[in-house]
Amino acid sequence: MYWRPVRDVLAELVSELSPEEIEQLLDTPPDPSLGDVAFPTFRLAKARRRPPAEIARETAEALAARGFSARADGGYVNVALPREAAVRDILRETAAPDFARFSWGAGKRVVIDMSSPNIAKPFGVGHLRSTVIGQAIRNLLLRAGYEVLRVNHIGDWGTQFGKLMAAYAMWGIPKGAPDKIRAYLELYVRFHEEAERRPELEDEGRRWFKRLEDGDPEARKLWRMFVDESLKEFMRIYDRLGVSFEYVLGESFYNDQIPGVLEEVRAKGLLEESEGAFVVRLGDDLPPALLLKSDGTTLYLTRDLATALYRKNVLGADLLLYVVGREQSLHFEQLRGVLRRMGYPWADAIVHVPFGLLRFGGKKLSTRRGRVIFLEEVLDEAKARALQILEEKSPQLADKEAVAEAIGVGAVIFGDLRQSRLHDVDFDMEEALSFEGETGPYVQYTYARAKGLFRRAGEPYEEALAAVPSDVRGIAGDRGWELLKLVAAYPRAVRKGIELYEPSAVARHILDVAKAFNRYYQEERILVEDAEERRAKLALVARVARVLADGLEVLGLKVLEEI
Ligand code: ARG
Repeated sequence: MYWRPVRDVLAELVSELSPEEIEQLLDTPPDPSLGDVAFPTFRLAKARRRPPAEIARETAEALAARGFSARADGGYVNVALPREAAVRDILRETAAPDFARFSWGAGKRVVIDMSSPNIAKPFGVGHLRSTVIGQAIRNLLLRAGYEVLRVNHIGDWGTQFGKLMAAYAMWGIPKGAPDKIRAYLELYVRFHEEAERRPELEDEGRRWFKRLEDGDPEARKLWRMFVDESLKEFMRIYDRLGVSFEYVLGESFYNDQIPGVLEEVRAKGLLEESEGAFVVRLGDDLPPALLLKSDGTTLYLTRDLATALYRKNVLGADLLLYVVGREQSLHFEQLRGVLRRMGYPWADAIVHVPFGLLRFGGKKLSTRRGRVIFLEEVLDEAKARALQILEEKSPQLADKEAVAEAIGVGAVIFGDLRQSRLHDVDFDMEEALSFEGETGPYVQYTYARAKGLFRRAGEPYEEALAAVPSDVRGIAGDRGWELLKLVAAYPRAVRKGIELYEPSAVARHILDVAKAFNRYYQEERILVEDAEERRAKLALVARVARVLADGLEVLGLKVLEEI
């Protein structure tokens, strides 16, 4: 980091904190006129039991004695760096291959459970969020050196299949359904409607599920059909989102491991009978975990228990992430609870990464009542709108269809990722596609604009990206410096994203970089006559492009060279 000289001196002055701790504390002052680096003294004040302002004053004096331009402001020490040397430092750092790459995850394997939609049901908005948040977290973890295995835990087992089979056996495929998933959904909805009047249908559904669990060939055949048809449609969506998986393992995959797992739980004396069913008690804070129903069928939790053991023992996971809506928090606490009672300390490696709701135009989703918005329709609409915008904005563009797809899909992904994942998101199509707002298209467009400068200048981008010119006066003025500092701060955003499993940290940061660049672009002429100045400016623009591209890749958006 370009403020390393400050950190190193602080490390000598402040023996209570390690250089890493100091680095973590360093920040940029809220107002650039205060300086370039701020060191808050509050932690130190606590350790030394002295007022922060006093420590700030002393530290500033000590820094000044070593030739730094430092001033105390309340509990902060603000330091202004020698500008041109710092500019060159930043240019060097941002050209290095390991810029915004870390190594603390090396040698560790993460299994990330993401997407995990349910067979014979539409790909819901929750699954969309899980897919794009999961993919971004995976991309972030790769930047920390982790090995990451994405697992799609397809919901292909459970009592709902009994209902679906019962409905299919009674009524067959409804006429006029545009595709198989919609047909299955109609069956499912009809089943629930009729079951309200005829409760005996529920028993019929349970009987079918029991047949399935007992391996009845007819039930298996129907089940296979539901699974295959659904997977085909899900794959189309993954293609469009640019997401793939190392493993696609449905819940059913664990069926034959379940008896052994239950046996282990029983042998450890944890399985208790409760009204014919079997539960594991989890203390006063959590409801007991129901693992076996009185009719002998298993539950979602039972399957997740077998799944976790498989991920740990067979896949060799050091960390087990589950990117699943926050409404399932209790489920994952129970999962951890059971594993802990089984005596597995790695239960703590199970981390639920929850997220909030996503609404499209205020509409909520409910599969049961069939008021469902189909993700593909959302993507299609986003693409159509992007195409319209392109027809107006860039009629001469080659390959408009493909660009529109990348922008439309990108708008949906970015609209999801730009807010903290726990926030509920109200997705507004028009807003998400605006080329001027805080959107994916805005960042994609800004990147293309930056790259366009190299085409216009006839100078290779790669050379500008590697260049650390000795004369940097052209970018050492306040405007260039502001932009450079934002570029240099990108690795911090990535680090924060990794540590908090929070892709929005990166989304927000590249928005800031894009905004600062567009201001710069408006206020400064970049392709000037003076060769030195132009070289310095293009070196800066190349870093901007690099950061924007890396951020877009983290988030799972396509990087477009021309829009
Ligand atoms: N299929 C589940 C649902 O739609 C999500 C599964 C999440 N993963 C897991 N291992 N439980 O609610």
